Amino acid sequence: MAESTDPDASGRSRHLVLVGLMGAGKTTIGRRVAALLDRPFVDADDELAERSGRSVREWFEEDGEPIFRKAEAELLHTLLDAAEPVVVATGGGVVIAEENRRRLTADDVTVVWLHGEPAFLASRTKPKEHRPLLADDPRETLQRLFAEREHWYREVADIVIDVQPAFLTESKPKDRLAEEVVAGIVHRRDRTSS
Ligand code: S3P
Repeated sequence: MAESTDPDASGRSRHLVLVGLMGAGKTTIGRRVAALLDRPFVDADDELAERSGRSVREWFEEDGEPIFRKAEAELLHTLLDAAEPVVVATGGGVVIAEENRRRLTADDVTVVWLHGEPAFLASRTKPKEHRPLLADDPRETLQRLFAEREHWYREVADIVIDVQPAFLTESKPKDRLAEEVVAGIVHRRDRTSS
């Protein structure tokens, strides 16, 4: 029988969640991982904007970050309540809330941390509509966010992937990284089920 690449082959419904700082490639890589696994993909920031009719920037500017974080947490829990296994690309700050970290470390979720040094991520991160925190100095901002969050990413991660080598050496780094994510979860499934 052919080796299954779906981590659900162990019999448990496991959602796959990508975490990491802005610029790590969570959205594009997550979409490709979902295609490889033939699962639905959700980008949490896009989903929040779609459900609320307001962009992430509007949430920050009109309601402030704490209210955005509450909405982000509610959405994460809703997405992970789905019966069907999904692939979720989270916003970089999802690990701040303890209730989110508790949900992400539950048995039915596999978390992949797409890790990169802040200076490297700053060199490839574009200020975007959904990134109000990335103001004038992305490098300084990402360095500060990394210092605040590194231990939380580490706490929730089942798998850590350093994105830097692929970005520096591969012609299609995000395709390569999506394959690495799938290989990582298959390897983990095989280790935990044997
Ligand atoms: C944030 C990251 C953004 C978005 C919001 C806050 C953060 O998402 O959720 O601007 O606190 O790191 P991406 O990581 O997808 O850019």
